[in-house]
Amino acid sequence: MKAMLTKSRNIIHLWKALYLQPTVTRSIKWKTDILQNTKVSKDHLTPEIQLRLITPECDLFHRPITTNQEKVFENDPFWGFYWPGGQAISRWLLDNKNVVRAKTVLDFGSGSGACSVAAMMAGAKKAVANDIDPVAAVSAEINAELNGIQLTTCTNNRIGEDCEENLILVGDVFYDDEIAGLIIPWLEKLRLSGKEILIGDPGRHGLTVDRQKLLTKLATYELPENACIENHGFKFVNVWRFK
Ligand SMILES: C[S@@+](CC[C@H](N)C(=O)[O-])C[C@H]1O[C@@H](n2cnc3c(N)ncnc32)[C@H](O)[C@@H]1O
Repeated sequence: MKAMLTKSRNIIHLWKALYLQPTVTRSIKWKTDILQNTKVSKDHLTPEIQLRLITPECDLFHRPITTNQEKVFENDPFWGFYWPGGQAISRWLLDNKNVVRAKTVLDFGSGSGACSVAAMMAGAKKAVANDIDPVAAVSAEINAELNGIQLTTCTNNRIGEDCEENLILVGDVFYDDEIAGLIIPWLEKLRLSGKEILIGDPGRHGLTVDRQKLLTKLATYELPENACIENHGFKFVNVWRFK
């Protein structure tokens, strides 16, 4: 018995050494890299939220990336921008707090975590910032702290899975047909099981006219100039609700 206990303790130590420590170390490095390569910005549709973003004052905003060695972050830092779809959902939540009050929220494709922060500011019980890029999880934690908010992060690919949360936020994730083709059937299933689903989108390829027939438009916002420039001239962004 004693031998067995010692063996299982050793296995736990080994697991911690092999798995946990590198994860913690990487998160600390990413936190430092994010703080060094971003600026705090309120230059967006929800100035009541401060976000660490890659702005024109940051080196990384202007630096052409040519080789892997020159990359500060392994994956493209989508979390470093506050995308029009996310801005619109956050604005909608902050102006319609009844939609989110006391709800549990899944912020799918959370990037900077802005929509989760908005949901918590608007009175949500819990918000899960979900992004498959682990650096986005660190970014969401930094932005939550900056706004005095607590949220949960999750880096699993949740497409196709059942969902405990009552309200699902999908901010600017219809950037191509492939991902749209994966997400829409999943969202249809979740909607049938009673979930509320909000989509923020400025008119990306994936949100075709056919797919829009599944949705009701709730609001249209005019984008600030910086967001128009960063998003190839999109001037407006919509909030949609799954019917
Ligand atoms: C354009 S960004 C939008 C970020 C944020 N929602 C916003 O509006 O600012 C899209 C994000 O979706 C994430 N993403 C892509 N596929 C995903 C998946 N299967 N599960 C979770 N996140 C995903 C990307 O890593 C990226 O951060």
